[in-house]
Amino acid sequence: MDFKPFIRDVNDFPKTGVIFKDITPLLNDNNALKAACQILFEKVHGQHIDKVVGVDSRGFIFAPLLASKLNAGFVPVRKKGKLPYETLSESYALEYGTDSLEIHADAIKKGEKVLVHDDVLATGGTAEAVCKLVERLGGEIVQCNFLIQLDFLNGAEKLNGYDIKTLLKY
Ligand code: PRP
Ligand code: MG
Repeated sequence: MDFKPFIRDVNDFPKTGVIFKDITPLLNDNNALKAACQILFEKVHGQHIDKVVGVDSRGFIFAPLLASKLNAGFVPVRKKGKLPYETLSESYALEYGTDSLEIHADAIKKGEKVLVHDDVLATGGTAEAVCKLVERLGGEIVQCNFLIQLDFLNGAEKLNGYDIKTLLKY
């Protein structure tokens, strides 16, 4: 299936000069949604996964769908201040300044096999911070998968050593 027709370019969002990759047409189409999920699932190649980690907020769409197909649990990584229990925190670079992501301290047990999912791999700062959180808890990252990889931003370089799988590259 060709997924590119289901990704809408929105010019000047969220600010002037940015071309935003809008995945909502893909989510809106029953066949595209199911096929995208199935392909990401197949790219795991039957490897055992204990937990699928999804990244606040757009990573929350596919991560639980994948977790269900993989018979794994779902773990939310959230932007700071959103998780209620004890957390670990990692900061990451934004265009201006930094922000941080958090995970519950008991979300992953030592040695658990983890799939990290987010919608987009851009500069890689977000995914890198998520991988650090998983590894601080003793999780073993089996794969990082994304719907979209923006190759020209070289995010994969920050995830050097991890198995990266992507539905679409630009
Ligand atoms: C976007 C996207 C990824 C991240 C990728 O999220 O959903 O999570 O940026 O960028 P990076 O590879 O350069 O770190 P954003 O922080 O805009 O928030 P959202 O998911 O809540 O929309
Ligand atoms: Mg995001």
